[in-house]
Amino acid sequence: MGTIVDFVIRDDLRDFSGYSSARSLSVTGDIWLNANESAWNNTSDPEGICRRYCDPQPPVLREKLAALYGCPAEELLIGRGSDEMIDLLVRATCVPQRDTVIWTPPVFGMYAVSTRLQHALPLEIPLRDTAAGLEIDSEAIIEAALRTRAKLIFLCSPSNPGGKTIPLAQIQKLAHALEETLIVVDEAYIEFADSSSAITLMSSDNDNIAVLRTLSKAHALAAARIGCLIADARLIAMLRRCQAPYPVPAPCVNLALGALNDQALAQTQSRIEMVRRERQRLQTALLAHPLVRRVYDSDANFLLVRFDQAQNVFDTLLDAGIVVRDQRAAPQLTDALRITIGTPEQNDRVLELLFSMETTT
Ligand SMILES: Cc1ncc(COP(=O)(O)O)c(C=O)c1O
Repeated sequence: MGTIVDFVIRDDLRDFSGYSSARSLSVTGDIWLNANESAWNNTSDPEGICRRYCDPQPPVLREKLAALYGCPAEELLIGRGSDEMIDLLVRATCVPQRDTVIWTPPVFGMYAVSTRLQHALPLEIPLRDTAAGLEIDSEAIIEAALRTRAKLIFLCSPSNPGGKTIPLAQIQKLAHALEETLIVVDEAYIEFADSSSAITLMSSDNDNIAVLRTLSKAHALAAARIGCLIADARLIAMLRRCQAPYPVPAPCVNLALGALNDQALAQTQSRIEMVRRERQRLQTALLAHPLVRRVYDSDANFLLVRFDQAQNVFDTLLDAGIVVRDQRAAPQLTDALRITIGTPEQNDRVLELLFSMETTT
């Protein structure tokens, strides 16, 4: 019996030790002359935060994120957003033109982008549009993954743009049926949902479940580019060797640490509650609009809405300076827009415009 690292990591990378950076050496000293850094601070950086190369995985941030997400620190890898983690996973596991990656459209576009860049084989198993929302087709995923010996399955929960969370029992079932495939659960929006994280499913029996988390959404730090992969510790150690030498810039580490103190976390929590209230209010109001065909229930910080005259709706909002996401090029969503939940005032403005439209069309 192998473990998930044996099943998914590319054969040619098994003994790969990666770049040995100036900060990965376990030496101590007072005068550091080993990395060709400048001996002086830049005037733009008077405190010298950026003069030296940073720690590849700053231990304090790693510990704090692990505590936040409820996992051991050695099971967590920090990167430049979940985007980098998606790319790293595909590169480290897929041999070009041989290995398969599965995802479930309509869904976040980076799974397809990273797969294309690696020249790996894409396999799309569409979501099913049911009365309960856009749902994964577990049986079809299992069949396809077994048939192709897929390396990775990206599941988005809550789904972007569908908004629906995948029940943990369904993720567990996939993990049991597909022991040689890594099931990657992208939880970029889980803070806005009621359900627990798939991190709670991770164990030595379930070493093929991995979870993506980010500070970009609920924690309001999209431009700091801090995201994490949580997975089996051996897999994390291997991916760390494949990652760029200094993936987490020091100013971003400081921003992230600031976001993880009690006061900042309390504020984040109260904003999450506000988003959830506004989501409900906006959904109820939109459902009463004559041009609205359907508003999908959402566990995230956006609503997916099907409209009669979606172009007209999009243009009306845009003319007033409100930019929403046009989803009409996505499979199954030919009449849909995705509206991010804004402040109560911004949401009022959206509703005002939409309801004024009703009288003129
Ligand atoms: C489902 C999903 N995953 C990941 C990301 C990217 O997150 P990050 O900013 O951490 O790279 C997004 C961004 O929109 C997303 O919608």
